[in-house]
Amino acid sequence: MNTIRLGDEAPNFIAVSTEGKINFHKWLGDSWGILFSHPADYTPVCTTELGMVAKYKDEFERRNVKVIGLSIDSLESHLDWIKDINETQNVTVNFPIIADNDKSISELYDMIHINEHINNTVRSLFIIDPSKKIRLIITYPASTGRNFDEIIRTIDSLQLTEYHRVATPANWKNGDDCLIMPSVTNKEIEELFPKGHTTIKKYFKKTPQPNIS
Ligand code: BEZ
Repeated sequence: MNTIRLGDEAPNFIAVSTEGKINFHKWLGDSWGILFSHPADYTPVCTTELGMVAKYKDEFERRNVKVIGLSIDSLESHLDWIKDINETQNVTVNFPIIADNDKSISELYDMIHINEHINNTVRSLFIIDPSKKIRLIITYPASTGRNFDEIIRTIDSLQLTEYHRVATPANWKNGDDCLIMPSVTNKEIEELFPKGHTTIKKYFKKTPQPNIS
């Protein structure tokens, strides 16, 4: 078993996918990335999740995020199941799905939780930044479909931190005030946050979301 933690470099791998052979790091290039597993092809929750990812293509692209799915099913199975996803979810699947037949990538990313399912990946999801660092990890059980609005929200938060040195408070949503990172010095504040800021406590300073007008 391999343990992956926030801040680690995302392990590289070569994969067979529905869009051909992929060297993961090369495929990511300078983009942010999402690598997510689903338990099995031809299952209802997974069908809705992969359909939803296809529907969110523009949202991911706008944020410079490439998305790739994975399960331990075969390439033939993925290619045939995609027809069902397209038909039932009214989409065209527009991202690669890895066929991890030998479970090598699932094991590399600790996606098989044997006390949950001995032989299938759980719903693991990793957000990876352009320097290939793991920035967010979530794990859901097979029976709970993920909320891709929440995934988009976490990307927005991560990118605000990365590019604007703010954090986001509980239940933050796009447009709400952000929190100035504790690493920002008083000297830097005026220049970095021209929209102004409110000091609630010495350690707790709010500012309007920097990347919107
Ligand atoms: C599903 O995707 O619907 C599913 C997969 C495995 C177990 C339970 C549900």
